[in-house]
Amino acid sequence: MTSLLQVNDLRVTFGRPRRPWRPRAGRVEAVAGVDLTVGRRETLALVGESGSGKTTVARCVVGLARPTAGGIRFDGTPLATRRPPALRRSIQMVFQDPRSSLNPRMPVRRIIAEGWGVHPEVAPDGHRTKAVLALLDQVGLDATVLDRRPAELSGGQCQRVSLARALALRPRLLVCDEAVSALDVSVQAQVLRLLADLRDRHDLSILFITHDLGVVRQIADRVAVMRRGEIVETAGVDEVFEAPKHAYTQELLDAALDIEVADPAEVDR
Ligand SMILES: Nc1ncnc2c1ncn2[C@@H]1O[C@H](COP(=O)(O)OP(=O)(O)OP(=O)(O)O)[C@@H](O)[C@H]1O
Ligand SMILES: [Mg+2]
Repeated sequence: MTSLLQVNDLRVTFGRPRRPWRPRAGRVEAVAGVDLTVGRRETLALVGESGSGKTTVARCVVGLARPTAGGIRFDGTPLATRRPPALRRSIQMVFQDPRSSLNPRMPVRRIIAEGWGVHPEVAPDGHRTKAVLALLDQVGLDATVLDRRPAELSGGQCQRVSLARALALRPRLLVCDEAVSALDVSVQAQVLRLLADLRDRHDLSILFITHDLGVVRQIADRVAVMRRGEIVETAGVDEVFEAPKHAYTQELLDAALDIEVADPAEVDR
């Protein structure tokens, strides 16, 4: 499989040393040499504990954070933080906190159509409202939200609006940071089916960040397990679940199993 995204030895360090004689004090190495690839029409899940560096990797990939070192290639082209419009459009991100990533003053219809002003090459030929409605329908929303602002939506609805906004630009790579975590199970299943369908029919690749191993099983082709800024294991989804190689992956799986068992609905059965 030819890879669409290639991340090589990515490093991101935050913070400046306050004491020059101790240059490492006060610094956080959020990403400490990450290698990963996402193939065409492939979904790579990036999992790992809180603070392991997943969002930081995602932000570098979409150009919102500057790597301290390392390289990112998209379709063979090295990516800098500043990118030409066509490249920016091709890589879209759905953020972990959708409410703060949506413009609070804009109604949903404008939020979704906004990118078409910047990228007319993907703007719909016909009526814009109709195209916005079609996108809303794909993510399980309807015309009742068209004129609402983010503050008038639930967290899950915000998340679906951000997903529709990203899909409006017909990206080739979609970076989803906990993009379905706030959704109830049935909408979550609908969105996951939509993503799988887009991946197969529209040549979409997905970097899918999640803490939910159940979701990983549903959507991912491969899984990369991250811990303390490093990838400790990358493998096919079945391999990771059936025969995890790294002790930390086993820990994650055990923790997920504990949560399932602790679910009272499960215990009752
Ligand atoms: N802008 C920043 N300035 C300083 N430190 C930061 C910044 N952004 C992230 N960090 C630190 O980098 C590390 C990795 O953070 P990151 O947000 O990438 O983790 P994550 O894996 O996405 O966690 P979560 O699952 O909780 O979202 C953390 O220790 C975090 O505190
Ligand atoms: Mg995060």
